[in-house]
Amino acid sequence: MKIVHTIDELRSQLRGQLRTAFVPTMGNLHEGHLSLMRTAARHGDPVVASIFVNRLQFGPNEDFDRYPRTLQDDAAKLEKEGVYVLFAPDEREMYPEPQDYRIRPPEDLGDILEGEFRPGFFVGVTTVVMKLFQCVGPQVAVFGKKDYQQQMIIRRMCQQFAMPTEIISAETIRDADGLALSSRNGYLSEQERAEAPRLYATLQQMRDRITQAQFGLGLKLDEVADLEQAARQILSVKGWQPDYISVRRQSNLAAPTQQDLDQRTPLVVVAAAKLGKTRLIDNLEI
Ligand code: PAF
Repeated sequence: MKIVHTIDELRSQLRGQLRTAFVPTMGNLHEGHLSLMRTAARHGDPVVASIFVNRLQFGPNEDFDRYPRTLQDDAAKLEKEGVYVLFAPDEREMYPEPQDYRIRPPEDLGDILEGEFRPGFFVGVTTVVMKLFQCVGPQVAVFGKKDYQQQMIIRRMCQQFAMPTEIISAETIRDADGLALSSRNGYLSEQERAEAPRLYATLQQMRDRITQAQFGLGLKLDEVADLEQAARQILSVKGWQPDYISVRRQSNLAAPTQQDLDQRTPLVVVAAAKLGKTRLIDNLEI
């Protein structure tokens, strides 16, 4: 595996490649990331990974400074996966001058849920992804469904800008107890780690109640609101601080209407909640 730190080196490594599959990451790689590499390898060749902790997507009080930077370990893992090139630029390479041109996702998708609780987050994500795509020129790029809203926003961005990159969404990888793998899980204390699977368990309970109702008498909007409220309550009692737990349409993350419920429009429950100082997100398609 070649490790390159500059855009010029990256481009010369990839010149002439016709089906590059790209996985952008912020490093501190776990099984979830490695499964994205394997998905990439099924859809293209060569596989290119990037590691760049993107300051633009972190709010002023977020964890940019303490975000784990583990380049050597990460490179060893990627090498084992057969990744062809690792692009690991520093900030001066990616942002040699202030990044004044930015991509702004539409408000109805970018300013809800994660976008509401992390203002500026998706502008930071789409801007860096656009720039990374310009550097790599991938035919395929893989994003995890754990960041459900992120992969949707990036797919729309590629459609609207007629970018020649196909976006593949990969399933969330979980620990045996259900906790979705995330680099931020490493922030959890032992006690918090034991509590953390409750987030997914709560989503599963909501999904089960919704499917039961759909196959029974039908599901009403106020029942959905009650389920969301009950889930928030369950987590709060156990010491969590939920930002949102919300049932949305799979297609665009809008709140479902009664007609959506009657027609069994595909839904997803999305959630973000803090456990101590660690903010976890998860989702479950219904
Ligand atoms: O999901 C991530 O790790 C980041 O948001 C991404 C897509 C690498 C952009 O910095």
